[in-house]
Amino acid sequence: MNMYDIIDKKRQDKVLNKEEIEYFVTGYTKGNIPDYQMSALLMAICCNGMSTRELTDLTITMANSGDKLDLSPVNGVTVDKHSTGGVGDKTTLIVAPIVASLGCKVAKMSGRALGFTGGTIDKLESIEGYKTNIEEKQFIDQVNRIGIGLIGSSKNLAPADKKIYALRDVTATVQSIPLIASSIMSKKIAAGSECIVLDIKVGSGAFMKNFIQGAKLARTMVNIGKMAGRKTVAVVTNMNAPLGNEIGNNLEVKEAIETLKGKGPKDLTDLCINLSTEMLMLCTNKKKDECEKLVKKSITDGLAFNKFKELVINQGGNIEQIDNPDLFEKAKYSVEIKAPRLGHIIKMNTSEIGRVSSILGAGRETKEDAIDYSAGITIMKKTGDYVKKGETIAILHTNKEDIIEEAKKLYLSSLKIYIQKPTRHRIVYGVIK
Ligand code: URA
Repeated sequence: MNMYDIIDKKRQDKVLNKEEIEYFVTGYTKGNIPDYQMSALLMAICCNGMSTRELTDLTITMANSGDKLDLSPVNGVTVDKHSTGGVGDKTTLIVAPIVASLGCKVAKMSGRALGFTGGTIDKLESIEGYKTNIEEKQFIDQVNRIGIGLIGSSKNLAPADKKIYALRDVTATVQSIPLIASSIMSKKIAAGSECIVLDIKVGSGAFMKNFIQGAKLARTMVNIGKMAGRKTVAVVTNMNAPLGNEIGNNLEVKEAIETLKGKGPKDLTDLCINLSTEMLMLCTNKKKDECEKLVKKSITDGLAFNKFKELVINQGGNIEQIDNPDLFEKAKYSVEIKAPRLGHIIKMNTSEIGRVSSILGAGRETKEDAIDYSAGITIMKKTGDYVKKGETIAILHTNKEDIIEEAKKLYLSSLKIYIQKPTRHRIVYGVIK
C-alpha cells in the first residue's frame, strides 16, 4: 500500500477500504506522510466526497488516534450535546442540568472560545472558583453522585483530527461536509457518551450558511454516529441572530440562570426545551410529548436550577454568585448603541456581532489571548423588531475604552434596518434522526 495509489484512487472517485483509511490517518498522525500528499488526498475527498462507510472508518480511526474518555464506570445512560458553534450560545449551561435533573448522566468535556464563537469552558470559568480541570476519577465519581460534570478537555482526544484540521485550514479544505462531519464526530466518539444530540447551526452566525447545507451536514453526522454505535440525533437550528439577548461570558451565565428559572428569552428557552427533549428521548426511549412535559416541569419546579447549583458547588464555584448574579464582575464601560433610523431590523450579520464581542474582550482571536469575563453585548433589539430612531438597540460592555468607537461602528454596520417587516423564522428548522 502507498499514499500515491490512495490519492489516485480517491481522485477517480473510488471507495477507499478500511486498511487504506487507517494507513493514511495513522501515517499522517505519526509524521510518515508528508503534508503535500495529505493535502492532495483531502482535496480529492473535498471534490468527490466519501460514502457513509468510508466516513465511519475515517471517523473511528481518528477517534482511536489518541486518548478516549471511558464512561463505562458511569451508572446510567450518558448523553452529550454538541453545537457546531454560534454566537450567544449558552445552551449547554441550561440543557445539561435540565436532563441531569431528569436522570440522564451528563459527563461532558467542552471547549473554549475562538474567533467569533464563544466557549462553554470560558463561561463556566467566569464563575469564581469553578474548576474545569478536575481529575478523571473525581469527575466520574461526581457524575455518578449528582448526574452531571462539565469540564475542559484535559485529554489528547483525536490528535489525528487536530493535525488534519490544521492542514485543512491552510489548504482550503475546511468547507467540506464529509470532512467537517468526521472531524466533529471523531471528537464526540472519543468523548465517550452513548447518546449524542447535535445542534447544527445554520445562518449568518454559523459555519453552515443555509438550510440545505446544514441538513446535509446533520444527515452525514447522524449516519456516522449510528454506524459507530451511538444513538445520534441532529437538530437544525437558526443562527441568523445571536441566541438570547446576552453575548459574553458572565453575561451569558446570568442569562442561563434566568432561563433555568423559567425567565429566559423565548428563542433560547424554546431551543433548550427542544434539545433537552431530544436528549431525554434518546436516554429513556420515552415519547416526545412526555419528554417535553418532563423538561418543562424540571424548569417550573426548580429541579433544573437546583441541579445547576449542585454542579457549581461540586466543581468549587462561588454559589453566592449563582444565588445573586449581581455579584458577577461588571465591565467599567457600558455604552448604549442607538438606532440610526426608524424601521425593522431585517438582518443581523451574526458572525460580525460575535467579532464585536471578541473585540470588546469577551473572546479570543488566537488560543493564547486572555478573556475578559465581564465584556460582551446586551442585545435589546433583534431581527424582526421595530426600532425608533435614537432608541437603544444594544449595550456594549468593555474595560477597553480605546476600542469603543470601533466596536460601535462595527455593530451598526452588522445590521440592516428597513421599513418593511421581515418574516420571523423559527428557532428550530427540523430534527434529523
Ligand atoms: N469544527 C470541527 O471540529 N471540525 C471541522 O471540520 C469544522 C468545525
